[in-house]
Amino acid sequence: MIKQVWICMIGAALVFSMSCAQQSEDASKKEGTVTMTQQPFGDVEGKPVELYTFTNANGMEVGIMTYGGIIVSIKTPDKNGQTADVALGFNSLEGYLKGHPYFGALVGRYGNRIAKGKFTLDGQEYTLAINNDPNALHGGLKGFDKKVWDAQEIEQDGQPALELTCSSPDGEEGYPGNLTCKVIYSLSNDNELKIEYFAETDKATPLNLTNHVYFNLAGEGSGDILDHVVMLKAGKFTPVDETLIPTGELRPVEGTPMDFTQPTRIGDRIDADDEQIKFGGGYDHNWVLDNQSGQLALGGLVTEPTSGRILEFYTTQPGVQFYCGNFLDGTLVGKAGKAYEKRNGFCLETQHYPDSPNHPNFPSSILKPGETYHHVTVYKFSTEK
Ligand code: GLA
Repeated sequence: MIKQVWICMIGAALVFSMSCAQQSEDASKKEGTVTMTQQPFGDVEGKPVELYTFTNANGMEVGIMTYGGIIVSIKTPDKNGQTADVALGFNSLEGYLKGHPYFGALVGRYGNRIAKGKFTLDGQEYTLAINNDPNALHGGLKGFDKKVWDAQEIEQDGQPALELTCSSPDGEEGYPGNLTCKVIYSLSNDNELKIEYFAETDKATPLNLTNHVYFNLAGEGSGDILDHVVMLKAGKFTPVDETLIPTGELRPVEGTPMDFTQPTRIGDRIDADDEQIKFGGGYDHNWVLDNQSGQLALGGLVTEPTSGRILEFYTTQPGVQFYCGNFLDGTLVGKAGKAYEKRNGFCLETQHYPDSPNHPNFPSSILKPGETYHHVTVYKFSTEK
């Protein structure tokens, strides 16, 4: 009996000390310092552009520049500890200035499409530039992706964060109200890249800020993303017409190629004989996230089998545009010197639904004077064991 008690006590002590060791190992990773450095990255129309680089205690590195608030790089390890850059983009500012499909950019005022560039608000009709015939897309001819944002290093939870601000005068790109915007980027020691958005206006205006980073979890320039496996916590999506404008319906994904409620390889159904797939040229649709609470919750998860990299995204937003780079056509050459061909990257643009200003049944995307627009999206990186 006494012997059994002793064995139990020794066993319990062992388990206790092992779990303490585990905890302190986890704690040391979480508690290390995140650093942020700053370097010049060229200039746009005489305005200097800065590149800020976060490095966390696990060696994960994220580069963000003040032009367009663009995420220039995300370097993160695979299951064997080999680091790769999983964000599409260019090595220098020049690449971005030549024109690109919103690689890594902050998008505003209205991410995604507004039908025929028209909406009516408080009895007044507004007209936006048609930059995606026949619709308005991603904030217009000079959207937030092309502004040089003002930057400031701030502190959040004892770690450095990057605060970017910009203003958009009344009537800019056809939108009403003087708008001020703030975006805070940070990187945690849990490999979470957090993007927090704030805005205020002096006249009611539609607003749909997002980030348009393209991921390839096998590394940018490594080919197509068809083997990535995607899960979306979304039982419905917003079907579109042939110009990618929502019909207004919230359609169940069940029984369609849009069903990612169970982890599914992107390539399995991306060319399915399906009207929605044909309209999008693959996946280029808004999913209605199950979480409609406005609180931060897991929206989905993507795994890449070869590298074992996992990307989870958390958001307070009601929707996500899952776009598979169907319009990439090999004309742009990325950081590794490889041409970005069709479907070489995918986006998870957390957002309000496309064309919300023209769909009263969609969650409202109108920001009013006196209100503060606020939403949060977190991209979290890890690996399969
Ligand atoms: C969004 C759109 C796509 C495309 C890209 C940019 O994701 O939904 O149709 O316009 O932006 O190329």
